[in-house]
Amino acid sequence: MVTLRDYELSDVDRLVCLAGNENVSKFLTESFPCPYTRTDAERWINKGSKQGHLVAKVIEFKGEFVGGIGLQPQGGWKQHMAEVGYWLGEQYWGRGIAPEALAALTETAFSSLGYKKVFAQVLGPNETSMRVLEKCGYRLEGVLEYEVFKSGQFYDVYQYASYRR
Ligand SMILES: CC(C)(COP(=O)(O)OP(=O)(O)OC[C@H]1O[C@@H](n2cnc3c(N)ncnc32)[C@H](O)[C@@H]1OP(=O)(O)O)[C@@H](O)C(=O)NCCC(=O)NCCS
Repeated sequence: MVTLRDYELSDVDRLVCLAGNENVSKFLTESFPCPYTRTDAERWINKGSKQGHLVAKVIEFKGEFVGGIGLQPQGGWKQHMAEVGYWLGEQYWGRGIAPEALAALTETAFSSLGYKKVFAQVLGPNETSMRVLEKCGYRLEGVLEYEVFKSGQFYDVYQYASYRR
């Protein structure tokens, strides 16, 4: 029921509609725009999502664009690792969609892309995301205290990881 596909230019309106929501962007990296404009969506689809070895996928649920998921490759002595990030439009939360998407992309990261470690950095209050990672077999590696400053607030970062040795 959940599938992953590349972004297409025709996704602009849907992306703006789903991503332009403070509840979605609240615990995401500051590079995720808020508010989310048409220009942001066009820039992401045309350029951002195609950068280097970044993997950027649309999450589809029953054939409908419901969110995004991606892998950011690490460089140098961390080139065996990738950071995973994901989000869903708020109306699609609580249906087990993110765990299905994360399980699929994690498998691709290990089996097809050859990564040995995939990790995620979750801001302290985002227990829902920690639950998603745990459901996909990710383990808490540690807590980086006072690591992020966003919108006037400091956050601890919970780092989760999955390995394939
Ligand atoms: C984090 C996020 C991707 C979770 O995706 P999801 O598909 O809703 O995840 P699930 O359906 O598996 O729910 C995860 C947990 O959320 C809780 N939950 C259940 N229903 C919920 C609802 N209606 N709304 C919010 N949380 C709910 C449950 O505790 C559930 O765990 P359980 O299945 O063990 O009971 C989604 O909330 C989101 O996009 N948030 C904003 C972006 C974000 O924070 N991304 C992660 C950055 S690290």
